[in-house]
Amino acid sequence: MDDRRLRDEITPEPLYQRRHAIMRAAGVLPMIAGASLVGCGQEDASDQGVVPTPGYEEVLTPFESVTSYNNFYEFSTEKDGVAKLAQGFKTSPWTLSVGGLVQRPQTFTVEDLDAMFMPERRAYRMRCVEGWSMVIPWQGFPISRILDEVVPNGDAKYLRFETVKRPDEMPGMRGFSPYAWPYVEGLTLDEARNPLATIATGLYGKPLLAQNGAPVRLVVPWKYGFKSIKSIVKIDLVARQPTSLWMAAAPSEYGFFANVNPEVSHPRWSQATERRIGETRRRPTLYLNGYAAAVGSLYAGMDLHKNY
Ligand code: MTE
Repeated sequence: MDDRRLRDEITPEPLYQRRHAIMRAAGVLPMIAGASLVGCGQEDASDQGVVPTPGYEEVLTPFESVTSYNNFYEFSTEKDGVAKLAQGFKTSPWTLSVGGLVQRPQTFTVEDLDAMFMPERRAYRMRCVEGWSMVIPWQGFPISRILDEVVPNGDAKYLRFETVKRPDEMPGMRGFSPYAWPYVEGLTLDEARNPLATIATGLYGKPLLAQNGAPVRLVVPWKYGFKSIKSIVKIDLVARQPTSLWMAAAPSEYGFFANVNPEVSHPRWSQATERRIGETRRRPTLYLNGYAAAVGSLYAGMDLHKNY
């Protein structure tokens, strides 16, 4: 699969451009740049972000849902409470430091990231471990572009990502909490080098909102959503597998790889199906969230029936 298909599997660029051309012609684009493309109403099905794939119709999840139904435990465990509580979160100025086992450690501003690594539109399915899913048009770029800049040493085997820790601005971190903040996640170096592993700075053509992990987050579409760590301030290249916040909190429920896999149940529920936000009927969950052609070779030796 070439890079263009990887980043545009859901809504081919011509459709996206045609939709925008129609909206621009109608004079509505500036107003609804961040609004629901699906709800625009006037166009035919193909202009509403609907792309039929065999047995699996894909529609972009409306902007409203993407920005109001969130998991961001530093603010709240209530999905519909995050957006409001995150309103006062300071996302500028912001820096992302990339270091550890690299030849050229660097600290990037968000402006640097956008200027140096050229975010492009990447619409991906996101499957939460809880059993719901969305399709989100991100602006992002492959993490490999950052890796090329910092140059990992030969003994670097993993990336360890860390979210900002600001209890003053993040109410979910204050007082008693069962979690060992900050939120930490990890990837193997090979996973991070796959073109699908994305650093996102925006969605629906706008900069990320706080509730979605502003100003910079990870998007790993073939893994359960909790791997896609938000509001990142630090990435370290390390020799040993990092322990994520979820591995530390519930090791019998959450592993390091956390690849979407309908064959492997969570200890408390099945992962065979999912509810796409905005739909009522559940749909089958796909191995590696439907991205097996792109990333399956990373896991060639793994037992598909085992929880990692
Ligand atoms: N990152 C941080 N720092 N804190 C979180 O609580 N939740 C994760 C992931 N990244 C989370 C996080 C989970 S469980 C999911 S499903 C996705 O973010 C949700 O992303 P969204 O709210 O943008 O849809």
